[in-house]
Amino acid sequence: MGNGIAHTAGAAGLNVTLIDVEGSILDRAVNTISSNLQRGVDKGRMSADEKQAALGRIRIAADDQAIANADIVVEAIIEKFDAKRALFQKLDTLAPKECVLASNTSSISITRIGASTRRADKVIGMHFFNPVPVMTLVEVIRGMATSDDTYQRVEDLAKRMGKTTIEVNDYPGFVSNRVLMPMINEAIFALHEGVATAEAIDGVMKLGMNHPMGPLQLADFIGLDVCLSILRVLEEGFGDPKYRPCPLLVKMVDAGWLGKKTARGFYTYGK
Ligand code: CAA
Repeated sequence: MGNGIAHTAGAAGLNVTLIDVEGSILDRAVNTISSNLQRGVDKGRMSADEKQAALGRIRIAADDQAIANADIVVEAIIEKFDAKRALFQKLDTLAPKECVLASNTSSISITRIGASTRRADKVIGMHFFNPVPVMTLVEVIRGMATSDDTYQRVEDLAKRMGKTTIEVNDYPGFVSNRVLMPMINEAIFALHEGVATAEAIDGVMKLGMNHPMGPLQLADFIGLDVCLSILRVLEEGFGDPKYRPCPLLVKMVDAGWLGKKTARGFYTYGK
């Protein structure tokens, strides 16, 4: 999601630095951003010069030191608490004192992430939706210690990026994934139990409920590993078996069939 966030910020006139530990991922991200910006040019919503200007505002860096002058950092790494804790501890030492540390986590406790830093008042959830340039929502999650000033700064940033914010409190999965993931999991159970084919399950939800994508296609699009991680957070956070991930989902993740990004999930995808 990092490239979608950087794309949206750059297109909105903000200077942004996209950081990853791997140079090849950064190169791929810039290519993706360029081709996604081109969609806007092709549709006549943006000129070729505006595209170049947006790209020019996006710097890339393979070193966390690049946050030394940041106003706001938006973390979008893997959905694992230990990885996020380690990164936030590092960001806390590198970022300027006044810098807000936001997480694009889909489900992990902002309160816990905040408590791993010495600036819990400046830690907040800024949850974007894929594809970021298209989806208007940013779910903003307040941790127990998040200050009003931090909330305001993130709301202002989201608005500058052309997004609509909705404020929620810090509970596992927040609102978005507390509602979305049980639906996706139930669709996987329906497939697992042979209720219908993947195409039929998705067809019912698209044609019957007017969803733009069926739940299985959406799971492929989100990433099956991400779906599983979120369900584990819900299961552990609420201690309620109703969030138990479907064994088929677990098996597919074990097989490395993670959806669109690995070209195989509930559907297969071209290169
Ligand atoms: N970057 C920029 N623009 C993009 C894009 C991208 N990556 N992907 C699609 N678009 C644009 C297209 O250019 C097109 O623009 P116009 O309307 O101006 O023509 C528009 O989006 C629609 O795209 P397409 O015509 O190619 O395809 P579509 O009509 O099938 O829509 C979709 C694609 C927007 C992805 C649509 O299928 C959709 O809304 N799907 C559901 C997405 C969703 O639910 N996202 C949330 C996932 S959950 C999440 O992200 C968070 C989490 O915590 C798990």
